[in-house]
Amino acid sequence: MQKTVLCVNIDHVATLRQARGGIEPDPIEAALVCEDNGAAGITVHLREDRRHIQDMDVAGLRDVVRGKLNLEMALSDDIISVARRVVPNQITLVPEKRQELTTEGGLDVAANKARIIEVARMFHDIGVLVSLFVEPDPRIVELSRETGADFIELHTGTYCGARGEAEVQKELDRIYRAAHHAKAIGIRINAGHGLSYRNLPPILETPGLEELNIGHSIISRAVFLGLARAVREIADIIATARPR
Ligand code: PXP
Repeated sequence: MQKTVLCVNIDHVATLRQARGGIEPDPIEAALVCEDNGAAGITVHLREDRRHIQDMDVAGLRDVVRGKLNLEMALSDDIISVARRVVPNQITLVPEKRQELTTEGGLDVAANKARIIEVARMFHDIGVLVSLFVEPDPRIVELSRETGADFIELHTGTYCGARGEAEVQKELDRIYRAAHHAKAIGIRINAGHGLSYRNLPPILETPGLEELNIGHSIISRAVFLGLARAVREIADIIATARPR
């Protein structure tokens, strides 16, 4: 049975930093904490609008990340040239719309097949693995294999948004079926989007699953795991100040 590893998506550490335009919290420091606590890799999405992760973050992460650095990116010339300079361990091609809050839907592999083949070759030439973020559909898995990509990342967002036992099971079956097909034709399997502490266990039953990319739920939980201590630290500074 395949051992599955965690890659932590740290985009939202940068989201918080960008809210003030300063230097805190630092995604580089976050990456070190993640790797020291069981993450096998770090994932970031360098978006065209640079709303969270910046070019300098990706370059800095390249210097410190010891495991896999996975760069999520659109098929855009600007981002491709940044990625070629940085040389992450893996790129994950995703669709991107400027107005969206987060990635919506999988990559349209059929419509972009020729460009994906070209980009996959370009990155293989510099030793970078290529993953495609796709809907869990055997036909799309098949097309993905034909592009020469090393991995598919199965989009788990619809499963995570499903309500009621029957709908949840239907979405899980789609994921399992797509994974079976991927295994059978020899393309490696990652998964992610919307996963949390509650909805993760059935996803771990996915055949051949190698890596999970999880971000929002980890950063959200970190707020509450850390808030008590953060408040106590500053309250202590105030409480122990000399009276004036
Ligand atoms: N995988 C891909 C391709 C994504 O675009 C994202 C969101 O940036 C994730 C995984 C992580 O999703 P979440 O933040 O919901 O865990």
